[in-house]
Amino acid sequence: MFASLLKAAVAAGLVQTSLARLVVRDALGSRDSTSKCNLDWTDAAPLKTTYVDGVKYGCKCYFGDDCWPAASAWQTLNQTVDGSLIVNMPPGAACHNTFNGPFGTVNTYDAAACADINEKFTDEAWTVSQPAAALWTYWTGETCRPSEDPTASCTLGNYGVYVIKATKHAHIKAGVDFARKNNIRLVLRNTGHDFIGRSVGYGSLVINTHSFKDVQWINSYAGAGSYHGSAVKVAAGIQGREILALGHARSPPLVVVTGECPTVGIAGGFIQGGGHGPWTTLKGFSADNVLAFEVITASGLYAVANEVENADLFYALKGGGPASYAVILTVTMKTFPDQRASGATLYINSTHTTDADVWWNGTAAFHKYANHFVDNGLYVYYEIFPQTLRVRPFVAIDKTAAQLQALVQPMLNELDAQHIPYEFAVKEFLTFFDLYEDLFEAESAGGSAISGGWMLNHADMDPARTPLVMDAFKKVFTPARPSTFSFMIGHLFNPGYNVPVANSATHPAWRNATDFLITNIIVPDGVDAGFKAYLQDVLTNDIDEALRSVSSSDCTYVNEADPYQTNWQGRFWGSAYPTLRRTRNKWDPLGVFYAVSTPGTEGWGLINDTKLCKKLG
Ligand SMILES: Cc1cc2nc3c(=O)[nH]c(=O)nc-3n(C[C@H](O)[C@H](O)[C@H](O)COP(=O)(O)OP(=O)(O)OC[C@H]3O[C@@H](n4cnc5c(N)ncnc54)[C@H](O)[C@@H]3O)c2cc1C
Ligand SMILES: *[C@@H]1O[C@H](CO)[C@@H](O)[C@H](O)[C@H]1NC(C)=O
Ligand SMILES: *[C@@H]1O[C@H](CO)[C@@H](O)[C@H](O)[C@H]1NC(C)=O
Ligand SMILES: *[C@@H]1O[C@H](CO)[C@@H](O)[C@H](O)[C@H]1NC(C)=O
Ligand SMILES: *[C@@H]1O[C@H](CO)[C@@H](O)[C@H](O)[C@H]1NC(C)=O
Ligand SMILES: *[C@@H]1O[C@H](CO)[C@@H](O)[C@H](O)[C@H]1NC(C)=O
Repeated sequence: MFASLLKAAVAAGLVQTSLARLVVRDALGSRDSTSKCNLDWTDAAPLKTTYVDGVKYGCKCYFGDDCWPAASAWQTLNQTVDGSLIVNMPPGAACHNTFNGPFGTVNTYDAAACADINEKFTDEAWTVSQPAAALWTYWTGETCRPSEDPTASCTLGNYGVYVIKATKHAHIKAGVDFARKNNIRLVLRNTGHDFIGRSVGYGSLVINTHSFKDVQWINSYAGAGSYHGSAVKVAAGIQGREILALGHARSPPLVVVTGECPTVGIAGGFIQGGGHGPWTTLKGFSADNVLAFEVITASGLYAVANEVENADLFYALKGGGPASYAVILTVTMKTFPDQRASGATLYINSTHTTDADVWWNGTAAFHKYANHFVDNGLYVYYEIFPQTLRVRPFVAIDKTAAQLQALVQPMLNELDAQHIPYEFAVKEFLTFFDLYEDLFEAESAGGSAISGGWMLNHADMDPARTPLVMDAFKKVFTPARPSTFSFMIGHLFNPGYNVPVANSATHPAWRNATDFLITNIIVPDGVDAGFKAYLQDVLTNDIDEALRSVSSSDCTYVNEADPYQTNWQGRFWGSAYPTLRRTRNKWDPLGVFYAVSTPGTEGWGLINDTKLCKKLG
C-alpha cells in the first residue's frame, strides 16, 4: 500500500532510496494439572533497583549489568531451544565495515551482501523473513541503515540482542521462562509490521513466532460457546494473504476477517489490537470472530482461552492490546463462505489537476459520501496527501458492479457537476479473493516514519461537516509548526454495521465508525534526538490534534495510533479499559511482557530512551 507514498517521499528527497479456575497444562508435556491456579511467580528474578534523580525505579537487566545472565546461561538456553538461539545483528550490517555490538566489534562489510540488502531493504517479504527486523524502521533507532558509506557506524540500537527462532511451542515457553527468571526484556516478534516499535526493544531477548504455519479447517466447531459453524485454527505465524489463499483453495471457498495488507499476521499484534480489514463492515473486527486461543502464559504455562476456560484472558486477547497477557500459539476463528464481490478505484491526482482548490473540492466530494458508503456495507481503503487521492479499492462484497456503480454515482455526479477531473473504474469479481488479488497492492518496507491516527464516526462525517473535516486534513498536511512530509491512510468501515455490540475488547465507540485515518510523518535520515522529539510533538499536538478537534469519537486504534497521546487508555479501549487492566495484572503482574501504552503499563517507561524500567518511588 505505501509504495506510492514512499515513492513520493523519495521524490521529495525525504528518504534515502536505500530505502477463575485455570485450566493449564505444562507446555512440554500433555499432563494435565487442571484446577491448580498456577500463576506462580516465585521463580521470577526481581527488577534491578535503579535511582534516577533520586527517584527509585525497577529496571530490566541489561548487558553490562551484574544481573545479566552469564554466557553459560545463554548456552543452556540455546540447548533448551534446540540450537535456535542466535546473536542478532541489524539487517544493514553488511554495508558497514564493522558492527559495534554488545559482544564487541566485528567486521561485517560484504559488498555483494550489501548490494543485495540495498535491493531488499524496501521488500516487505524479505523484511518479514528476517529474525528481528522491523518493517517500519524508525523505532529500531536507525543505528545501522544500509549505507553507501561503509565507514558509517553500525550499532544495535533497539534491535534485540538475542533471537529465538522458535519452531516448537517448547521454544516459546523456554524464552518466556528465561526472560522471567532472569529479568530480561522480552519481545515477541511475528511479522515485524508494528508501526510503533512494539516488536523491537533495546537489550531484549526476542522470540520469533513466524515459523508457525499450521492451519486446520473445521467444518463444525464443537468447542465452547454457542457457535457451531465453520472455523479455522491458525498458528501464530500465518499471514493475511496466506490464509485467504488457503481458504480460496477450499471447496467451497472460505474467508476469514484479515487485514487489507497481505503480509500482516493474524494471530499476533493484529488480532490483539482488534484487526480491521475488507470484511470488517460486514463481519466486525477480526477479534469479534475469535472462538478460542491457545497460549503460553507469562508464568510459562500452556493454557486454552475460550468463552468457558479462562474467559477473562479470552476477552482480553480479543483486542485488548498486543504482548500484554500471553503469547498466542493459535487462534481459532469463524470462517465465512466467500462471495461475489465488486471493486472500484478512484484517482484524483496531478495527472488530472494541478489546481489545489480543484483537488480539495474533489477530495471533499469523496468524503461527503463516506457515511453513505459504509451504511451500504462497503469497505474503502485510500491514501491521501496533497494533490493525491488514491482510493484503491472500494470493496462491495455480495454486490454486482452495477450495484456498486449505483452506490458511487451520487459522488461521481457531484464531481462531474463541479468539473473536477478524475479517473474511476469499477469491476466485478467471482470472489472476494479475486478482488483482493487484483486491487490491493503490495506494500513496501524500510521507511522511517512516526505514525498516529484517529477515528471519525458517523456524526463527525455528517456531509454538512465535510468542510470542517477538510480543514483538519489541511492541518495534517501543513501543521501549525513546520514539519517534514506527512500523509494519511484512510479506511472507511464500520464494525458495528452487522455486529452492533462488540464481541471483543475493542473500544465500544467503533460500532459507529466511518473513517479511520492513520497519520504519518516521514522522519529524514540522520536527524538528531531533539528533532525527533519535535516531530513527535508535532504529530501528537498538531497533526492528530487537528483530527481530534473535528471529532466526537474519542477513539482510535491501538495498532495504528500515537502511543504518546494523553489518555491512551480511554482512547484505545473506552469502558473496556478497567477490566483489561485487571486482567493484565492477573496474568502478567510482573511485566514479563511489555508493549508501549498497553493495559497495566502505567509506571513503565524507557530511561534514556533505552532501558525499560518501572517507577517505584
Ligand atoms: C503495511 C501495513 C499494513 C497494515 N494493515 C493493517 C490492516 O489492514 N488492518 C489492521 O488492523 N492493521 C493493519 N496494520 C497494523 C497491524 O495490525 C499491526 O502492525 C500489528 O501489530 C501487526 O501484528 P504482527 O503480529 O503482524 O506484527 P509484529 O510487529 O510482529 O507484532 C506486533 C505486536 O504484537 C506482538 N505479538 C506478535 N506476535 C505475538 C504473539 N504470538 N502473541 C502475543 N503477542 C504477539 C508483538 O510483541 C508486538 O507487540 C498494518 C501495518 C502495516 C505495517
Ligand atoms: C546455538 O546453537 C547453534 C547450534 O549448535 C549454534 O549454531 C548457534 O551459534 C548457537 N547460538 C549461540 C547464541 O551461541
Ligand atoms: C494518479 O492517477 C492515475 C490514474 O489516472 C494512476 O494511474 C496513478 O497511479 C495515480 N498516481 C498516484 C500517485 O496515485
Ligand atoms: C471549490 O468549492 C467551493 C465551494 O463549493 C467553491 O466556492 C470554489 O469555487 C471551488 N473551487 C474550484 C477551484 O472549483
Ligand atoms: C451513529 O451515529 C449517528 C449519527 O450521529 C446516529 O444517528 C446513530 O444513532 C448512531 N448509531 C449508533 C448505533 O450509535
Ligand atoms: C542514562 O544516561 C546517563 C548519561 O549517559 C548515565 O549517566 C545514566 O547512568 C543512564 N541511566 C541509566 C538508568 O542507565
